[in-house]
Amino acid sequence: MNNYNFDKLEDRTNTMSAKWDQREAIFGTQNLIPMWVADSDWQTAPAVKNELISRAEEGIFGYSFATAEITNSIQEWLKKRFDLTVASDWLQYDTGVVPAINFTLKAITEAGDGVIIQPPVYRPFFESVKNNDCLLVENTLVEEDGYYQMDFAGLEEIIANWQEKPGSLKAFILCSPHNPVGRVWKRDELIRLIKILQREKIYLLTDEIHADLIYRGYQHYPILKLLAEEKNLKDYQNQVVAFMAASKTFNIAGLHTSYTIIADPKLRHKYQAAKAGFATGNSPFGLLALQAAYQNGEEWLEAQLDYLTANYQFCRDFIKQEIPGLKLSRAEGTYLAWLDFRQLSFESDQELSKFIAKEAGLGMNQGNWFGRAGSMFMRLNLACPRQRIKTALKQLKKALSELN
Ligand SMILES: Cc1ncc(COP(=O)(O)O)c(C=O)c1O
Repeated sequence: MNNYNFDKLEDRTNTMSAKWDQREAIFGTQNLIPMWVADSDWQTAPAVKNELISRAEEGIFGYSFATAEITNSIQEWLKKRFDLTVASDWLQYDTGVVPAINFTLKAITEAGDGVIIQPPVYRPFFESVKNNDCLLVENTLVEEDGYYQMDFAGLEEIIANWQEKPGSLKAFILCSPHNPVGRVWKRDELIRLIKILQREKIYLLTDEIHADLIYRGYQHYPILKLLAEEKNLKDYQNQVVAFMAASKTFNIAGLHTSYTIIADPKLRHKYQAAKAGFATGNSPFGLLALQAAYQNGEEWLEAQLDYLTANYQFCRDFIKQEIPGLKLSRAEGTYLAWLDFRQLSFESDQELSKFIAKEAGLGMNQGNWFGRAGSMFMRLNLACPRQRIKTALKQLKKALSELN
């Protein structure tokens, strides 16, 4: 039994919430239920909140650094949740996964190098490749009956047909679990991917920010864990950078703290050199929230995972039973629902988005924000009270029924 209340309809208006207070700016109307940006509509774990309150009481908020205790809390969390062992000097602290991906590309690429991504995928992946003057190489996921898989044949083809300078197909950015389609990659899928990248000496940037958000019945495999387990893969550690955070898991994304794991000392030095002049330490609130979450937030997380799993199941069943023509992609984790409108009668992404905001009264992410493969899809954030999901889906059902 626990006392966590994920059903409570919190009022997030006038809190500088990007999701709630930018509705007018983003959707042209304040009058919709915002279910877009990936944060949660409930309070963080009590342990995190209490730690921040007591730190605020101290009244001095100068420059801070990650103490050995914070590093230790990460090591223990990764061991306990994933059986992953990381040495303390592998850990770098960052203000977010997105800047960390940019620093990594800056460290390992030259202008004109190729970087592979798997759309539909989190848009900053596209942008970080472009920021670093690299060539964006799209290996689109394959979708069948609402279930997404990696296109291994397509990847082999990209490699075989690479016409640029030898060795310049430089990096692959993996989203694991995958935003927006909600796949939690299986062990054998990841091993297969690693083997191809290792063979080609392609760096692997693995964004595991959603690693803790796994629906019941599935399991997340950190890339570094797989490398440690398989004798022939261990050496590939020198080409892997992993990005993780407590930010999605504990709804503390606004505190801008993440950590980057680099096992290889040479790669770590390159990474640190790439950061120099761009990054100036972390917020004491972000670091303390991370520590409190990992030290004292596990019970809250387990309760949240039960709730999120039930939210996804509710959404899945409602759509199946009540909204003909709309398809929900089969998700195994994250709290994002990927809705397929291709069988409905919309003519363009703009028309679909406008309909969702103005007619259904819902603020979702337009699918093609995640690349062309997301055209005619919308992303719905399920990290909110079930009651709100129910209201939203009813509004969607009604609006769609009035279309015909
Ligand atoms: C896959 C993925 N990576 C990174 C981020 C953002 O990370 P950060 O806020 O740490 O830059 C998100 C946020 O939605 C995400 O879904």
